[in-house]
Amino acid sequence: MTNTKRAADLRSARWFAKDDFRSFGHRSRVLQMGYSHEDFTAKPVIAIVNTWSDANQCHTHFKQRVEDVKRGILQAGGWPLELPAISLSESMVKPTSMLYRNFLAMETEELLRSHPVDGAVLMGGCDKTTPGLLMGALSMGLPCIYLPAGPMLRGNWRGQALGSGSDAFKYWDERRAGRLSDRAWAEMEAGIARSHGTCMTMGTAATMMGIAEALGFTLPGASSIPAPDANHIRMSAECGRRIVQMVWDDLTPARLLSPGSFQNAIAVAMAMGCSTNAIIHLVAISRRAGLPVTLDDFDAASRHVGVIANIRPSGDRYLMEDFFYAGGLPALMHVMRDKLDVSALTVNGKTVAENIAGAEVFNDDVIRPVNNPIYAEGALAVLRGNLAPDGVVIKPSAVAPHLLRHTGRAIVFDDYPSLKAAVDDPDLDVTGDDILVLRNAGPKGAGMPEWGMLPIPTKLLKQGVTDMLRLSDARMSGTSYGGCLLHCSPEAFIGGPLALVKTGDRITVDVPARSIHLEVSDEELAARRAAWTPPPPRYERGYGWMFGRHILQAHEGCDFDFLETQFGAPVPEPVIY
Ligand code: FES
Repeated sequence: MTNTKRAADLRSARWFAKDDFRSFGHRSRVLQMGYSHEDFTAKPVIAIVNTWSDANQCHTHFKQRVEDVKRGILQAGGWPLELPAISLSESMVKPTSMLYRNFLAMETEELLRSHPVDGAVLMGGCDKTTPGLLMGALSMGLPCIYLPAGPMLRGNWRGQALGSGSDAFKYWDERRAGRLSDRAWAEMEAGIARSHGTCMTMGTAATMMGIAEALGFTLPGASSIPAPDANHIRMSAECGRRIVQMVWDDLTPARLLSPGSFQNAIAVAMAMGCSTNAIIHLVAISRRAGLPVTLDDFDAASRHVGVIANIRPSGDRYLMEDFFYAGGLPALMHVMRDKLDVSALTVNGKTVAENIAGAEVFNDDVIRPVNNPIYAEGALAVLRGNLAPDGVVIKPSAVAPHLLRHTGRAIVFDDYPSLKAAVDDPDLDVTGDDILVLRNAGPKGAGMPEWGMLPIPTKLLKQGVTDMLRLSDARMSGTSYGGCLLHCSPEAFIGGPLALVKTGDRITVDVPARSIHLEVSDEELAARRAAWTPPPPRYERGYGWMFGRHILQAHEGCDFDFLETQFGAPVPEPVIY
């Protein structure tokens, strides 16, 4: 292959190539680490942005995989530079990892900007790491390749497969209803996460890794490989080899991405039965790329792309390990190729058409034919109305069908602690026809945590109620399910209509008509608005202070307003004094 770049053109040459005092300092410090001039002179410097930490169990294997990536970089004639970044464990970071997605995006961009780097391997997987890494790398604009952590193995409990999140939620309700013993619950705790890797349902992690592949940022098939599989090790080394050539080819995100890349990402998300979080993250990524997509693009796609990945929680049985054995994402994309822009480019320098040519499905109950979807439409739907002028999101494929058209009485909670305290109250005035409402859980209100699958009151669980409508300005875990209306925008904390709802009001939801209506007159709503006073800011110092002032609303992707730059514009480079 012919390089389009010369060694003298490498960005890192500014640090290492000159015969001046500063370059002397840079070279002497590399020599200090034990490298020789031959190791790094005139070679692409590849940053490995590694989100490993002891706090992120989904990325435990990154400690080893980074060595595999380095091996690949060295084999291809590059020089690896590992740069650790915040690991954002979905299960450990409080109050919510969403508070820090943009932190990782900023960190990634600035790590790449401030160091002598020509290209990057981005190592992520746990929910917010994929969008955070991609957003930052897109803004910096250097050639980059995404290395997905891959899903963990299926959970196991008494010979039964367990799915991350989904089964925890399901059996927690069973326990609250008094139908599961302490011993069974303890066994489950030890069996639901039995290897490294991300959640293995079609949660946010699997969704976003799949989206990264559909956008063209991973090697073909990379997003489906289970974390402990030897294929994952080989894929990691190949990422290292490939990024070196991407630098020589100057294959930047600006050259790689097109409107078709985002069309593919949305269509694939729908076909996978994606997490609702895909909307927020992909909107944010697209705006960084200067190729913005909107909620309407998702709703439109959901009407003509069926859910063909039979993976929980939309599916009834299978997990990501099954998806990999069935052929993984290349097989799914091959099945739905008529919905894709197969001319879109990917990091291996080939088009989607070239990458998926010959991909086969090895289990057509896991990856269904398009004429036998698990849902003909409905991975996601966006409703609007006087309660959500900028939209509210629902996952119809995971909702009890009788709730898709429903009018119910609102039971309103101003914060999560009061909701949590109420749901176990045996005297709570609630029926399965009511609509639970939680507010002040949006971006500015609480950092938009995954509280949106509001717990069904224990009293109703004991009556056998398994689903009811629940409305909030929060998000929910991609492993969640049920009649949850999410991302209500604008949020209550800034005076969105959700702030005006009172317990006892009636709300009408019509998913097929894409509408949500608060059955209260305009005059009454105006009076309530006049009486509403904004709550004080959540944070008065530090990162939270900045977050509260600059976070955009859910339908805008929750990026910081000052980070939405013009994609492709010259990147400010650090001055080397
Ligand atoms: Fe990391 Fe679910 S906790 S992907």
